Parts: sequence; C-alpha cells; structure tokens
Amino acid sequence: MKLIQGHLVGFDDDRQFTSHRRGVVAIDGGRIVALGELATLRADYPDAPLTDHGDAWVLPGFVDAHVHYPQLGVIASHGRELLEWLTDYTFPEEMRFHDPAYARVQADAFWDELTRNGTTSAAVFSTVHPVSADALFASAQARGHRVMTGKVMMDRHCPPALADTAQSAYDDSESLIRRWHGVDRLDYALTPRFAPTSTPEQLAACAALWDCYPDVALQTHLSENRAEIDWVKQLFPGSQDYVGVYEDAGLVRARSLFGHAIHLNERERAVLKDAGAALVHCPTSNLFLGSGLFEFQALLEAGQSIALATDVGGGTSFSMLATMKAAYQVSAMTGRALDIEPLWYSATLGAARSLGWANVGNLALGFEADLIVIDPAQSPVLAQRVARADSLREALFATAILADDRHVVQTYLA
Ligand code: GUN
Ligand code: ZN
Repeated sequence: MKLIQGHLVGFDDDRQFTSHRRGVVAIDGGRIVALGELATLRADYPDAPLTDHGDAWVLPGFVDAHVHYPQLGVIASHGRELLEWLTDYTFPEEMRFHDPAYARVQADAFWDELTRNGTTSAAVFSTVHPVSADALFASAQARGHRVMTGKVMMDRHCPPALADTAQSAYDDSESLIRRWHGVDRLDYALTPRFAPTSTPEQLAACAALWDCYPDVALQTHLSENRAEIDWVKQLFPGSQDYVGVYEDAGLVRARSLFGHAIHLNERERAVLKDAGAALVHCPTSNLFLGSGLFEFQALLEAGQSIALATDVGGGTSFSMLATMKAAYQVSAMTGRALDIEPLWYSATLGAARSLGWANVGNLALGFEADLIVIDPAQSPVLAQRVARADSLREALFATAILADDRHVVQTYLA
C-alpha cells in the first residue's frame, strides 16, 4: 500500500485529459485503488507511506507499441533505407541472440533504458531465436514490466543463421506461448517479421497457430517503404495489395498490430478498420529511414485504432516524449497538425487499448499502477514554459515537445 502525490493527469471516456492539481493516487496490490485529496485518502489509509512529488506531473506510464530490443546495439546506424539497413546492420546483430547470455544482457539493458524514459509496457520484437524471447520475458518478469513479445518468424530472404521454417516457427512459438502467455504481466505476440521474409506456408502456419490460441496478439510490419511494397507485389502476385497478403493468410484480426502502415490505399484502410486492427505509428524511424509521412489526423478521423511506437533501432530514441514530438512534426508536415490529446493518448491508454490490454495506461480506479513522474523543473526552459501556460493542454503540449529523460524523475511499475 502506498500513496503518491503530485499533479495527476489521466484521460476520461472522451479521450480528454482529467487533472487533479494536488491529487493523490492510492496503490495496493499493483492497482490504483483510490484517487483524490490527501485529506480524504488519509482517513481511509492512515498508515500508508506517502511520496509527494510536489508540482511535478504524475501520469500513466508510456506504452511503446513496437520496438526491437535486439536492435539496441545498432541504433543510429547510418542506414540509407529500410532494406539495406536490415541487411547491413540489423541481421548481423540479430544473429548474436542465439546466445542466451548475450540476449539476457541486452534484455536487461533494454528495460533499464525504457524505465529511464518512463516506458512501463511494450510490444517488443525478439529475434528468430526462441531463447531471445525467453530472455526478454524473464527480464521483464524480474522487473515487473508488462510486455508482449514473440520469436520472429522468418523462413526466407534472410541469412541462413536467422532462418526458421514454417514448422519450426509453429512449434517454437507454441512452446513459448505455453511457457509465458498470461504469466504475471507477460503476453505472447505471434511475430512474423513481415511478408517478404515469410513464405505463404509460414504465414498459413502462423494463422493456424493463432486459431489454436486466439487470445494472443500478432505483430508485424506493413507498407513502410516503397521498395518493400513493390517487392511484396512480386512475391505475392495473387494478392490485391500488401494488406491483402496478410488478409489472404488470415492474419488481419482485432489484435493484429501493423507497424508503420504508411502507404495504404483506400481498400487497405477499410479492411484494417473493419477488422479493428491497430496501426502503429513509428515517426522517428520513418524519418530516419526516409520511409514516409504517416497521415495521423486523417486516419484518426476515419476511426482507425492508432498506437505510437519508437521502433528502435530504426527509430532514433527510446523516449516516447521524443516520439510524440516527432509524431507532431510529421503531422505538421502533412498539413494536419495534431492536438495534444491524441498524441498523449496514443502513447498511453490508446496504445494499451490497441494492444488489447484492459486496465492499462490510465490514472483511473482499477488500473494497473504504472505511473511516471515528469518534473518540468529539471530544466529551466520547460519550467518557465509550463509556468507561463494558460491551460493544462498548453502545459502538456510544451512538456511533450521539450521534455526528455532528464525530466522523468520516477517510474513506478505496478
Ligand atoms: N521491416 C522488417 N523488419 C524490420 C525492422 O527490423 N525494422 C523496421 N523498421 N522495419 C522492418
Ligand atoms: Zn519494426
């Protein structure tokens, strides 16, 4: 049992901010059990220890909806564009994750970095090696993070050391599901890397496995890069378009998470929306690899489910604050600058909902108590800008644009 005091900010049912200037959150058993004034809560919890964060924001922890932990070591590699970057940097580094000891060291470093940046939960790609997923699950479990991950499925167009087969991908994924799915805060995500690196047989095996375990998620990449899209057309001449490839394989469902999804046609948008699948926007990665400008506002107005993500190592920062800033900049480049609410929502509660996690990503009764404290006073410019703001929205916008890991002064996991 503990009490945490500060400037509480969460979301209401209309995705607008809620706020409590000197509010207190009461936490018990990893969940938020009460929210209110100190005087009121003290009566109910006379002995609970109180941590007072003063004027700092107390917010829901960030949810990173698409990130590759094995790429931590190759972040910021001069990449040119996606397909070359994968071949030159990503695949060689991913080969090292056959070694469980190396995988565990990198998994621990990954969670350290997320914690420092206020990211409490994530949907993460491991490598093709089952031991890489074991390492990430074990590390998350030891620290109390909420995570979904899966071993990558990839049976063509990759180095032989990274290739599985349709059958081994099925078998290895199934044993990981049995070992980890639903244990503590851990969930399994089927993880075919993307259509070019899976044969139609492997995509079919993935769908067959999903039929057996319908409550796991699926994460992959979609329409990130023009050359990739052309390649998919050649590889799957029988499908109408890129979404059609996944659709024909039976992989477009409510808990399908499609990273990037930049260059979509009308039909693809309609199919994704009707299925309730999630689009995962990775703005720092899309800028770094020159992939394109995601049309966030238009997709939002069309009712798509959208989550934000870092996509490290294509992405250039583990910070969801840096990611919100990049998402804002990209939206401005498309001529449809986003409001602050959808930015912050898609980095917290909205992302959790896209990933199918109930009671995650908000400061509200019954939610899992993943909280972060962001203190504007950690830098003079942000302190001044927040003090001058005329509204909560203005102050939070300045925080999203100006804050970084220096300002994340505390991360509480459940
Ligand atoms: N498409 C297939 N694999 C990857 C990857 O590792 N990173 C990114 N950004 N795109 C991909
Ligand atoms: Zn990715």
